[in-house]
Amino acid sequence: MSRIVRFHKIGGPEVLQIDNIEVPPPATGEVRIKTKALGLNRAESMFRSGQYLTQPKFPSRLGYEASGIIEAVGSGVTGLAPGDTVSIVPPIDQGKYGVYGEIATVPFQYVVKHPLTLSFVEAAAVWMQYMTAYGALIDIAAVTKGDFVVIPAASSSVGLAAIQLCKLVGATPIATTRTSAKRKALLEAGAAFVIATLEEDLAAKLKEITGGKGARVVFDPVGGNTVLALAEGMAQGGILFQYGALSPEPTPFPLMAALTKSLTMRGYVLFEILGNPVRFEKAKRFILDALSSGKLKPIIAKTFPLEEIVEAHRYMESNQQFGKIVVTV
Ligand SMILES: NC(=O)c1ccc[n+]([C@@H]2O[C@H](COP(=O)([O-])OP(=O)(O)OC[C@H]3O[C@@H](n4cnc5c(N)ncnc54)[C@H](OP(=O)(O)O)[C@@H]3O)[C@@H](O)[C@H]2O)c1
Repeated sequence: MSRIVRFHKIGGPEVLQIDNIEVPPPATGEVRIKTKALGLNRAESMFRSGQYLTQPKFPSRLGYEASGIIEAVGSGVTGLAPGDTVSIVPPIDQGKYGVYGEIATVPFQYVVKHPLTLSFVEAAAVWMQYMTAYGALIDIAAVTKGDFVVIPAASSSVGLAAIQLCKLVGATPIATTRTSAKRKALLEAGAAFVIATLEEDLAAKLKEITGGKGARVVFDPVGGNTVLALAEGMAQGGILFQYGALSPEPTPFPLMAALTKSLTMRGYVLFEILGNPVRFEKAKRFILDALSSGKLKPIIAKTFPLEEIVEAHRYMESNQQFGKIVVTV
């Protein structure tokens, strides 16, 4: 029997419970991992509360990211063996392959042998954040030296990954956060500029920072009315990625800015990259190399033991975190 986190109905953090269940052996193409650490994501609290891209079937598992040691592999698995230290790239269906618990069973394509210089806690905080930011910024927008990149909700794990990636390729990361509380930490994390959106005029600040030119790329997980100010602060031919829905407001289309500046506004999820074997492999290689050289380094906000999974979700929803919340097993 293994301790697995499941939920039996939609609701707040309190619906998460640890069930003792028999986990079947890995099927063809699957790998069974004894987990050491779980990386938490906003997508999991959205899934738990019925607000995600897919709906749970009860009782439902959840969770996208983990690190640990391989216990067993199913037939057809190549390049991986029991005893390997690995981490998990988010598999598409978190209901089916949810990793919260002592055991995670996932398709082998999503299992990576990471650099052993990473601790289990760090390794559980790699793939969602860097793969998401890499896909939009490097693979699609080809961000490079000289680009200004606006990163709303920059204190989120994905936001911090985006700051590190911008610095790696020589672009200028402009972080936004709602209040000044996280300003100092964002500057220390590598942001060239920080704008507190509830305290400053976002569009005016973006124009001032970019010398009137505007930012070529916006990487936004918030949405809502702020999109209008973001678009106003963008450069001719800019691209705005909408990759999350943190704001409860409807998101308007910034028609006038889009018309006058030929802006592109597009939705984006990391599965766009993971679903293409060539782009997935290229992204994985880039991230592994940068992790090995220390150019990318996950920032950990706080850790909780598995028994405190409910408190860990409550903490995530408090928005106090700076970086990744990790649960140790
Ligand atoms: N498309 C994809 O493939 C993909 C992949 C991964 C994550 N995501 C999305 O990316 C976002 C960040 O994910 P994460 O797991 O890294 O999140 P996280 O670490 O939980 O990020 C939380 C931060 O977002 C900001 N925030 C929260 N609610 C907000 C609101 N209503 N308005 C403005 N800012 C708000 C807060 O920053 P301040 O307090 O500093 O303002 C907060 O600290 C989520 O929306 C998630 O769904 C998308």
